[in-house]
This record gives sequence, structure tokens and C-alpha cells, in this order.
Amino acid sequence: MKGIIEMNQNDLKALVGQAAVDQIESGMVVGLGSGSTVAYLIKALGKRMQEEPLQIETVTTSRQTMQLAQAVGIDCRQIDEVRQIDLTIDGADEVDADFQGIKGGGGALLWEKIVNQSSTRNVWIIDESKLVDRIGRFGVPVEVIPFGSQKLFQILADRGYHPQWRMQGDQLFKTDEGNQIIDLKTGVIAHPHALARDLASTAGIVEHGLFLDAVDLVIVGRSSGVELMK
Ligand code: 5RP
Repeated sequence: MKGIIEMNQNDLKALVGQAAVDQIESGMVVGLGSGSTVAYLIKALGKRMQEEPLQIETVTTSRQTMQLAQAVGIDCRQIDEVRQIDLTIDGADEVDADFQGIKGGGGALLWEKIVNQSSTRNVWIIDESKLVDRIGRFGVPVEVIPFGSQKLFQILADRGYHPQWRMQGDQLFKTDEGNQIIDLKTGVIAHPHALARDLASTAGIVEHGLFLDAVDLVIVGRSSGVELMK
């Protein structure tokens, strides 16, 4: 059996995925986030739903998550078919000491943010490598509409944000809404709220990956065990 000391990143993701299932109660409308950590949550949730009569409704933050959930027998609804979402459990790419985060590594940030803002409670599940002093080294993904995106790319470059196109093979990455992703290689961000305001007020940007004041609980997988933060 694997000792706790030998745990690798995937083991830690599995640990928090499993721990997060305990946050879910019968009667809830649950938002399911995106990414490899959430994939472990979905697997654990599917297992729990086979073992006990857990009555929940779910919505997903990406088509990929919907496919994963359906594959383990979890029924998914469209977001506008459900009342208020009680709890959303999602992954994150970076989380700082003030619980500010960056998401969008998987390109699902737009649906993730809509589900996040529609949820009474938001929980993030991360392995300890995602904890940082200050967010920014990961970069900030922004989802942009195709119209004028080359012009927008130049504007972002002129502002010193070091934009890079997100690619999938030799094609531009395409989001679930048919948009493109530009990754801003900002480095550590001194003023996340100011950057968020700047990006939100720029035409062509549909959404950005700065998730500020957006989480209620962070479940961290550490080699020493699971830690609940906040
Ligand atoms: C997708 C996301 C993911 O939640 C984030 O990238 C974390 O993914 P992973 O659990 O695979 O590290 O924001 O858009």
C-alpha cells in the first residue's frame, strides 16, 4: 500500500476529489467544475450514488464534464433548468493566501464563472502545488470572440500583458462557446482587481480567468493529508 509520503500529484487530486464528495447532501443542486481534479470528484460521486440514495441535480461547467458525469451514471441538467445552484465544486490553477484564484487552464472559464456566480457556495479542490503567495505565474486565460481577435491580441500586447494564443495541435483552441483563448503571461499580479477591471472593460473579451472573492472553501490535498482552508 502507498504510504502518505509517496503520494504524487494525481494521488493528491484523488484525495481531494474523494473528500469533496462529503460536501454534497441529498436535495442539493450541485455544480460540477472542470479539469483533472474534478474528474476524481465525479468518479467518487458516481460511486457514492450507486451505494446510497443520494437525490441531487447537477449542472456542469463544460461539455467534457457532462460526458464524464454521464459516463458514471450522473444525470446532468442545463443550467437554466435548475433553481439556484446550492454548491459548486471546481478545480483551480492557482490560489493565493487571500483565496484569490486563477482558473481556465482547461479553457472552461466562461461556463465556470457563470456557474460560480450562480452558486450559493463555492468550493475549490486543489493539490498543494496550486497554492501560491500571489497569483499570476500561471498566466491569466481570457476568452475572446473570434471577431477582431487579432486586433484585440495587439491591444493586449501593447498593454504589456504578453499575450499568447492557446493552441490545440496546430489549430487555435476553441471553447465550448466557439470562442478563442488568449493566455496573458503577466507574471505575479500586483493588483488583481485592477487587472480584472481592465480586462472586463475591454470589448471582445467575454470573460477572464481571474476568480476574485469567488470561493467559500478550498480543500487542499497535501502529502500530510487533506486540509480545509477558510
Ligand atoms: C478549467 C479549470 C480547471 O479547474 C483548472 O485548470 C484546474 O484543472 P486541473 O484540476 O486539471 O489541474 O479552470 O478551465
